[in-house]
Amino acid sequence: TIFYAKHGSPMLIGVNEDNEKFFASSDSPIIGLAKEVNYFEDGDYGYVTKEELVIYSKEGTKKEAIYSLLATDKLSAQKDGFRFFMEKEIYEQSDVIADTLIGRLGEESVNFEELNPKLFDNINEIKLCACGTSYHSALSASYMFERYAKVRCSVEIASEFRYREPLMCKDTLFVVISQSGETADTLETLKMAKKAGLKTLVICNVDNSSMVRLADACILTRAGIEKGVASTKAFATQVTVFWMLSLYVAKLRDTMNAKDLAYQIHLLREVPVSVKVADTMHERIKRLSKRYLHGHGFFFIGRDVFFPLALEGALKLKEISYLHAEGYPSGEMKHGPIALADPELFTIALLPQHLLYEKSKSNVEELSARDSTICAISALEFDKADDFIQINHCEDYMLEFFQMMVVVQLLSLEISVRLGNDVDMPRNLAKSVTVE
Ligand code: AGP
Repeated sequence: TIFYAKHGSPMLIGVNEDNEKFFASSDSPIIGLAKEVNYFEDGDYGYVTKEELVIYSKEGTKKEAIYSLLATDKLSAQKDGFRFFMEKEIYEQSDVIADTLIGRLGEESVNFEELNPKLFDNINEIKLCACGTSYHSALSASYMFERYAKVRCSVEIASEFRYREPLMCKDTLFVVISQSGETADTLETLKMAKKAGLKTLVICNVDNSSMVRLADACILTRAGIEKGVASTKAFATQVTVFWMLSLYVAKLRDTMNAKDLAYQIHLLREVPVSVKVADTMHERIKRLSKRYLHGHGFFFIGRDVFFPLALEGALKLKEISYLHAEGYPSGEMKHGPIALADPELFTIALLPQHLLYEKSKSNVEELSARDSTICAISALEFDKADDFIQINHCEDYMLEFFQMMVVVQLLSLEISVRLGNDVDMPRNLAKSVTVE
């Protein structure tokens, strides 16, 4: 007999035709083993034997299990010929972004069937709250919400928000972002917002997760199961959802004309192609990676939405290579960090052709003048760089964003491989952080 109780952290039980039973914290580890799952509620307790599953609610009354079918797609839980899940997930981004877009793009409007437009009635601010990579996608969203939908937008790190006695006003839409839907700090902020009477929305990759069950409204990112601890395709689909959502809100608030809206939608349709990994690109990054295995640190720098991407690039590298890396807004370097510049400081410069190119370029030139080793990522040749990774020319900076995202993901992957690290299960990290 196994006795169990659930409080705070996620827990489910899966069963199969042979009446085998599996406890887990999320669906993915038991796909292919169990057929149906019951998600426990906070306060549930009971016991399980070979013959029966007994559940009591927190009030002490017996209750029936509610089973839902588990995805049977065991394939998505396998590496499919790739060396690592992370690599497979980087290559999958084109397909999963296409899934994220499907059924949501009209000619001049974005549709989210799952949303009631009333969610945005009387809303004067959008507050985004998340951790880690999801926080980075939220940061990139703040630029889009203010630029396209002209709505005030603030972004919070969940572990900070929880304890800083934040002011919560009823005209704020509270949005949490999470791949897993189980991150303890983010979940707690959602509970706080609900308690304060705010409207809530979750952008999440896992249906049935705690956040999805709790929020007033939900948009699923459709990235499929993400096994690599270092998030890649979840980030890609989150940014895609945010881009669509900012246009959806722009339409509701009438802040963008039909022609511009149609153009943005045309660009969105281009994203799946822009994230396709070309063999030549991957080979080039593989070769370059050998030059970046030492040094005293990395600066990833970018402006505007490329600043959150710089943060995300630095986080990816830290997580799986264990090298010190930081993300910075390019314009901040002269306010202190540039003091670190020398040949052993590697600068990964994000230089989009279609957004503040001259400004960003001059920031990189300042670093180059101080002899920092520069790896520039751009569609335009840059002669001050020691290394140059060329992305394809495209018509808009958001398409450059997605191409550069793939480059920084692959660069981290290849550096980690050369250092002999466990790419999918880096030291000290867990896929889902269900404790604070
Ligand atoms: C990403 O590579 C990390 N492993 C981590 O920062 C993660 O994004 C963070 O823990 C938040 O997780 P969530 O999206 O599941 O809430």
